[in-house]
Amino acid sequence: MERTLAIIKPDAVQRGLVGKILARLEAAGFVILAMKMVYLSKEDAQRFYHVHRERPFFDSLTSYMASGPAVALLLQREGAIASLRELMGATNPAQAAAGTLRHEFGLDVEKNAIHGSDSPETAAWEIPFFFSGLEFRER
Ligand code: RTP
Ligand code: MG
Repeated sequence: MERTLAIIKPDAVQRGLVGKILARLEAAGFVILAMKMVYLSKEDAQRFYHVHRERPFFDSLTSYMASGPAVALLLQREGAIASLRELMGATNPAQAAAGTLRHEFGLDVEKNAIHGSDSPETAAWEIPFFFSGLEFRER
């Protein structure tokens, strides 16, 4: 079993899509080990997306991630990291395959509804960014 960190991003929360996205994740076999609504500050968003600090979209991305509540999810499944990335689809919803979450729920290349860890190393850093060991158990 593998774990990954997902975020239902502010654009999806704001449009009332949390329940629909959770249903899609559960239907795809992900077990929700931990979940909470979070209100990232700009500084929190800058820390979370620090790998992108040199990118032209960094300021816009971190403002957007701080623009409203998001839902942090600790998900478990066999091959959770790759499976979630596949279910999410391409970063740009316009290029995301039919049936993917970003195709269905994303608005544009920034407001793309959901985040997912992109490697085991990233997941190992992102999971404790949001969840302490007190907030989940192996299942
Ligand atoms: P994420 O990290 O959120 O799961 O998304 P990702 O791996 O598919 O994409 P990444 O390259 O890591 O970019 C992180 C987030 O930055 C925003 N973005 N904006 N304006 C742009 O060209 C642009 N490119 C990326 C998106 O919100 C993207 O998910
Ligand atoms: Mg990424």
